[in-house]
Amino acid sequence: MAAVPEHIHPVSDRLLQRADKEALLGQRGCVVWMTGLSGSGKSTIAIALERRLHRAGRYAVVLDGDNIRAGINSNLGFSEADRTENIRRIAEVAKLFVGNGAVVVCSFVSPTVAIRDQARAIIGAADFIEVFVDTPLEECERRDVKGLYAKARAGEVKHFTGISAPFEAPPHPHVHLATVGRTPEANADELLNYLQPRITLQ
Ligand code: ADX
Repeated sequence: MAAVPEHIHPVSDRLLQRADKEALLGQRGCVVWMTGLSGSGKSTIAIALERRLHRAGRYAVVLDGDNIRAGINSNLGFSEADRTENIRRIAEVAKLFVGNGAVVVCSFVSPTVAIRDQARAIIGAADFIEVFVDTPLEECERRDVKGLYAKARAGEVKHFTGISAPFEAPPHPHVHLATVGRTPEANADELLNYLQPRITLQ
């Protein structure tokens, strides 16, 4: 991590602490890090999970391509370097939210072990819950919700994950969600059940 420059005076030691925020919210924060191919169903599960958490009285924030690549990361593409920077910034944002007691649901392809290791290192392993949204490439390509697989096959979209860029499945995710033959609602229920004991204040 880069050293803090001399003229920057950190205020974090004078701010209220995470425990103060968690006590106010009545929950323990964490980061739910969903990884999977484009079109695997990450965003749909994230949306369903956010609603369930909200109904259960939990404060949750969803970070995904829509609100991140359109804004803070609008200057980044899909080269390995840009994806690494994409995920680095997202992890820093997630860390800020979790430090304020939120349950942060991140849904990004985050295609390699190294990229996810970087996110875990920034956020801290204790707060990082890795969720593999496991949809086979053939199924994502068959769904092709955004038409990007067809474009990638035609060579119109370069470095497309699963076609012309790598996707490394996480070897030991905390939660492994298969989506074929299973509704997003059922997967969101499973995730909520997994999370409840972890986000409950002792
Ligand atoms: S990541 O690799 O940097 O984690 P991220 O999750 O932000 O990717 O964005 C992935 C989304 O961007 C995909 O769901 C797809 O809609 C779109 N996209 C556009 N070009 C590509 C590409 N070359 N590879 C993967 N996804 C792409």
